[in-house]
Amino acid sequence: MDNTKESNNTSLTIAEPCIAEFKEIIKDIASNPNVISLRERTQHENKSRYYHCLRVSYYTYYLCKKLGLDYVSAARGAMLHDFYFYDWRDKKVEGQKKFHAFRHPNIALKNAIDLFDLNDKEKDIIKKHMWPLTIVPPKCKEGYIVTLVDKYCATNEFIKNVKNKISIKINHNNK
Ligand SMILES: [Fe+2]
Ligand SMILES: [Fe+2]
Repeated sequence: MDNTKESNNTSLTIAEPCIAEFKEIIKDIASNPNVISLRERTQHENKSRYYHCLRVSYYTYYLCKKLGLDYVSAARGAMLHDFYFYDWRDKKVEGQKKFHAFRHPNIALKNAIDLFDLNDKEKDIIKKHMWPLTIVPPKCKEGYIVTLVDKYCATNEFIKNVKNKISIKINHNNK
């Protein structure tokens, strides 16, 4: 999944098993222009929000399929878990960064409901994905998987970015 290519077209380039099934499950979401616009939104430093959601969705799909869970609802909910359009780092907007972690699940859920026909599990996955920060736990096992995968991906993207910054600094100092 780390070889996901971000491009201007709507195709997903992921060399992993079961990818055709995964693409079919999230096809309507991944090809929606509003979702595609998340490619222009930075999530964790140099990675787009679209890339992050796609990654969380794929790992969730894969784990849920292995565990015999509802991988369809899990993948679809995960693909929309960060479906918001603002920049959470924007210091000009009062409280933006401070309250982002608590409020963006509900914003993502509202945006998702406006555009897609979601089942109760998909809605719960989006709403509870920041658990345990947001106190109320997910109602289903798939929701717990998304909370774990999201944290794994966010941490992984952050560490990669720190490594990149360190190597750029070292290269710069060696010139
Ligand atoms: Fe989130
Ligand atoms: Fe996320």
